[in-house]
Amino acid sequence: MTHAQQDPTGRLRHLLSLQDLPAESLLMLLDRAQAYCAPAGHPAPRNTRLAGRTVANLFFEPSTRTRASFELAARRLGAEVLNLDISLSSATKGESVLDTLDTLLAMGVDAFVVRHADDGLHAMLADFLDTRAALINAGEGASHHPTQGLLDALTIRQHKPAFEPLTVTIAGDIRHSRVAHSAVHALSALGVGELRLASPTAVLADNNLPGKHFTDLDQAVQDADVIMMLRIQKERMAAEQVPDTTQYLEHFGLTPARLARAKPDAIVMHPGPMNRGVEIADSVADGPQSVIRQQVANGVAVRMAVLEALLADQK
Ligand code: CP
Repeated sequence: MTHAQQDPTGRLRHLLSLQDLPAESLLMLLDRAQAYCAPAGHPAPRNTRLAGRTVANLFFEPSTRTRASFELAARRLGAEVLNLDISLSSATKGESVLDTLDTLLAMGVDAFVVRHADDGLHAMLADFLDTRAALINAGEGASHHPTQGLLDALTIRQHKPAFEPLTVTIAGDIRHSRVAHSAVHALSALGVGELRLASPTAVLADNNLPGKHFTDLDQAVQDADVIMMLRIQKERMAAEQVPDTTQYLEHFGLTPARLARAKPDAIVMHPGPMNRGVEIADSVADGPQSVIRQQVANGVAVRMAVLEALLADQK
């Protein structure tokens, strides 16, 4: 994977995955993103570093946060933005994703932001584009969501000065979560001390994922510094795997009682969209330990950093 997204000098050509991305590349992107975070009460940073460049958003799966933040990020860097409405595109007439990219490439697109349900598609698209345009993975099946992993790491770093002493619990439907996979890749590379992966028995996480695996959420959150809750990804589950959502909060949701087991200064994260009252109680999602809105804000800064690294640094 690395060969497709970094050139031999280590410079990013595409962003496909956080797996195998060295800590120094992750930290470069986090530092760059931090510089794009506006202090409270200040207007969002803007510049013209991507003036004359064109970014195309191709979302073959629904999105609110990722799509909106990529559009804002590109505009705040002065780029032209094309949001292709897939439901009205020639994809509905059977045009392949490769042909769609090739068509837009002929119109002068410099970067493609692509979300798609097929695992493995993005690497193939990046190989096809090679050096002609950048490919940014905005969500790939159940496997990768690299800009989400970056914004999660950035949010943690804004609250906890060092990764090494931290205990981070990721909980929920890890098996079907590209968010969880990218977070694990980023947090492992950044040296988090203890990574706990808690999943219900109906959807056990892949045992090969690095971390301590739990099926009991009470144990998994004990003395944690960071708790990241995940949505049940019904759209990627067989019917028999879908848990009873009326019972889920009691058995595997983050309630105030469970949160009280974590460290008093623990932060609560969720990538969104949230199923309130299922994986997370309303009072926890909106409570003083929640950093969920900060994650959303950081999404714009991270995507500015990624677009700049891929386009402004490599004309
Ligand atoms: N976290 C995330 O990817 O949200 P969206 O599906 O709204 O983009």
